[in-house]
Amino acid sequence: MAGFEEKIKLKTKEALIAIEGYLPSEEGLQHTILEACAYSVENGGKRLRPIFMQAAYELCGGSMVSEELYPFMAAMEMIHSSSLVHDDLPCMDNDRLRRGKPSTWAKYGEDMGTLTGDALMIYAFETAVKSMADPKKKLEAIKILAEKTGIFGMIGGQVVDVELTGKRPSAEQIEFIYKLKTGALIEASFMIGGIIAGADDETINKLEKAGSYIGMAFQIQDDILDVISSEDELGKPVNSDIRNEKITWLSIYGMEQSLKDVERFTSDALQLLSEIRKNDEKSFLEELCLYLINRKK
Ligand code: IPE
Ligand code: IPE
Ligand code: MG
Ligand code: MG
Ligand code: MG
Repeated sequence: MAGFEEKIKLKTKEALIAIEGYLPSEEGLQHTILEACAYSVENGGKRLRPIFMQAAYELCGGSMVSEELYPFMAAMEMIHSSSLVHDDLPCMDNDRLRRGKPSTWAKYGEDMGTLTGDALMIYAFETAVKSMADPKKKLEAIKILAEKTGIFGMIGGQVVDVELTGKRPSAEQIEFIYKLKTGALIEASFMIGGIIAGADDETINKLEKAGSYIGMAFQIQDDILDVISSEDELGKPVNSDIRNEKITWLSIYGMEQSLKDVERFTSDALQLLSEIRKNDEKSFLEELCLYLINRKK
């Protein structure tokens, strides 16, 4: 895995270059929101979604990443960060720590926290349109970005998550929540990489399904880390789900089964991804999914 560690470091650095290149400059009377946007995006996230996106793009043969894809990579991280900013608000998960620092509302207040989430979500679209990709592909990618963020994607999942907090949702309801609140943005990351690279519909379909499986695995692992990890390691509070009386996959199925499910969902995704590549060598996207099974943060 030594070569892989090096690769992931480089890809993370590249994602950061893409993101920082598209953050608005901090000027004007509304500079507080610009500062709060930069604060929310620049703090130490793993940048997995833009990395997924670039990996899917390269898997599908894309080769003009900075011109075509950087704006979408930046947009995706802005949307993801906006979801975290809102997720931490007192009216949602009420968490004061994010990515090792005070969460946005804890630093800037609830008013600015709310507005920062809004601002980042919409600035993502101002950013995505800057892509130099072929207009038809760009439009399709923006459509996916919007759908997977909105009512039928991440936001829809957060709605049901919040509504069922403190209640006893069924396993089916939990799966619905995870597919949307976490899966949707990962699906979009996989799909947009493929769309901008010019992949055919069958491939985009496979990318969507694979992204959905990885989303499930990722959220179950997040639930596990919420219980077994530490605040220092995660950079966010632990036991947040118990404190909020949230029923999770882990609380329904237990640790042993949940660990198995992370592997099962990942291997379902890997099967689909292996059908996309044209040779025998595992793609970076597959290596990354495999690596995430044992993630510690
Ligand atoms: C956290 O996502 C929110 C979930 C969907 C579980 P990440 O674990 O990718 O958070 P960052 O971006 O690295 O902070
Ligand atoms: C987050 O789920 C999903 C989002 C869309 C932000 P969680 O509430 O479990 O995420 P963390 O643990 O706060 O990062
Ligand atoms: Mg939450
Ligand atoms: Mg949360
Ligand atoms: Mg969590």
